[in-house]
Order: sequence, then structure tokens, then C-alpha cells
Amino acid sequence: MALRGAALLLMASLLAPVASFVQPGGEDAFFLLPKDIGVFDGVGGFRKLGVDPAAFSRAFAAAAAHNITAQRARWEAIGGGGGGSGAQTVATFKGVDLRLALEHALSSALRGTRGGGCTACVASFDAASGLLTGANLGDSGLAVLRRDLSKRMFVAYRTTPQQHRFNMPYQLGTNSTDTPADAVQFRFYTRPGDVIVLATDGLFDNLFDEDIVETVAALLRRKHAGHAAAPVTPEAIAACLVLRAVELSADRERESPWHRAAAQARLAARRRRRASGAAAWRSFTRRLGELLGELEPGTRALAAYEGPAYEGGKLDDITVVVACVSGGGGGGGSGGGSGDGSGG
Ligand SMILES: *[C@@H]1O[C@H](CO)[C@@H](O)[C@H](O)[C@H]1NC(C)=O
Ligand SMILES: *[C@@H]1O[C@H](CO)[C@@H](O)[C@H](O)[C@H]1NC(C)=O
Repeated sequence: MALRGAALLLMASLLAPVASFVQPGGEDAFFLLPKDIGVFDGVGGFRKLGVDPAAFSRAFAAAAAHNITAQRARWEAIGGGGGGSGAQTVATFKGVDLRLALEHALSSALRGTRGGGCTACVASFDAASGLLTGANLGDSGLAVLRRDLSKRMFVAYRTTPQQHRFNMPYQLGTNSTDTPADAVQFRFYTRPGDVIVLATDGLFDNLFDEDIVETVAALLRRKHAGHAAAPVTPEAIAACLVLRAVELSADRERESPWHRAAAQARLAARRRRRASGAAAWRSFTRRLGELLGELEPGTRALAAYEGPAYEGGKLDDITVVVACVSGGGGGGGSGGGSGDGSGG
């Protein structure tokens, strides 16, 4: 492989199931292949129907990984990347079509389980160009962290979550009208030193992007200050992010992303009510007599309308996959000098 600027991915993952869930191992699932990663959040609501939500997300993850592996193998068998194969879509690079992989995973999981659903975020890496392509459906996500010339870390890329309404993410599975075609496809050119964070909403509902940046930057600073003997590995980054999310999810005093989204949803509902207020007022005055009789239950309904106030973080499974882009094709070298600014 005489490839210019070939990059390596150093990867690690950590799944931290929320302790109170019945299911050992949680409802999240993930896969980690040499150049492809994915996280899947099983829809917990299926537990009420007597269906194990984890069975679906795990079957989905396994089938997606299987299809991607097969796609890559097929691509390599025909000589990988040589001929311009014409109709390449955004998610197609080096032969891997991630939406196709999601389709395969969906039908396979529907066949192989008693039903269920999950969100999906998958990404593929091209070592030759550093190109990261991905497909995201639902509220899991991917962030690429990068350091600028003054070594300040920032979020260079971030997926946008998809949801029908608050706490109702797009999902694939039994009775869902969302399809793999609804997945947002993305492509982003990574650079050596970039840190790719792929995670379920358990991370993103508890950590703002700034928290993620601060946590990873603090770890790298420690290393540069000589406090850490060992190199900063993807494992260490994943562990720190999960610990930080768990810590902050327990803090009732703090506004979490989850809490902020809940407040925004309530505000939007209030605005909608106000917008329909004028029409409601006319009908109200017309029906005043009747309504007086309903006053008591009406007052109660109004109090309930505000919805629950979500405070602090969200207790949830947290799955984090960290991939560090390292420069050169040097096959491991110092055993994982990840993310420590080789410049660019
Ligand atoms: C991947 O899944 C798609 C959709 O089911 C299927 O058409 C395709 O043959 C699979 N690819 C490989 C290489 O198995
Ligand atoms: C799916 O829809 C069918 C038909 O509307 C319904 O009978 C079934 O209970 C639904 N299943 C789930 C898991 O929601």
C-alpha cells in the first residue's frame, strides 16, 4: 500500500450500562472493526412488551459489522479503489455503503429477534485519505476533536441528532416508520492527531461538547505536563469520558444537555399554546357557561400540562468508542501515542 499520508486508527470502546437496568450489559451495542465503528441504542420501551431490548441492538450491531466486513472484502477482491466505479454515493467509499449495511442489519435483526428497535451511528475510515464517512439515524452521534495551532482543542465535526420530538429519536425496528434511507450521511476529512468520539445519547445527554473537549484536553495536558507515564490511549480517553458523564449525570444542581432539551421542549409547547391562544379565546368566550362547570378538572389539566421538570443528567447506558487518528503507517510504534498533536 504505497499511500500518501496513510493514517492509522487506534481504537477502543467502553460500554457502561446504567446500574439500575435489569439487563446485564445494558441495552446499547457497538462494533469495532479495524476501520469501521458503530454504536446502537436499543429502545427500552420494548421491555414493557416482554421483549429484551438488548437482543435487537446486539443482533443489529453484529449484522451491520458482518455486512461491512463483507463489503470491504469484496472491494479488496476486485482490487480496491482502482477503477472509478461511477455511481458512488456520499456514503460509498472503498466499496462500503453504510446505508446498505443498515438495511441489511435491520432486516437481519427483525428476522432474528422477537422485535425491538435501535438508533444507529456508523462510520468508516479510509486510511489513504483520512476520510471518515458515516451514517447516523437517531440520537447517538459522532464528534471529531482537533487541536488548533495553539494546541487548543475544539470540535471540528459533530453530527446532528434526529428526533421526532423530545425524547423520541428516529429509530429502526418493529413498527418504526423510519428507514435506513432517513439516516443522515456525512463525510469529513480527518487529520493525524484527531480524536473521533462515537457515542450513544448516554454521553451526549450528559456532556455538552465543551465538557467533552475539556475532558479530553485535560487528559492530554496531564500527559504533556509529564504526570502520566503512559501514552494517552483511546482506552484512557473513553474511560475518562464515561466517568465524567456518569459523574455529571448524578449532579442534580447542574443543567445537562438533557435538561436543557427538556426545557426547550416545554418552551416550544408553551409557544404553540400561545399561538393557538387567540382562537382558543374566542371559543372560550362562546363556551364560557359550559366551561365554568369544567373549571375544576380544567385547572388540574393545566397543572399537568407543564410536564415533568427534568433536572440534572440522564441515567442511561453510556457507550463510547474512541478512535485516534495517528499519522504515518508505522504499525503501532510507541504503542499508542494518540492524539498528541503531531501538528499536521
Ligand atoms: C450487504 O447487505 C445488502 C442489503 O441486504 C446486500 O444486498 C449485500 O449483498 C450485502 N453485502 C455483502 C457483501 O454481503
Ligand atoms: C406493531 O403494530 C401492530 C399493528 O398495529 C400491533 O398489533 C403491535 O402490537 C405493534 N407492536 C409493537 C411492538 O409495538
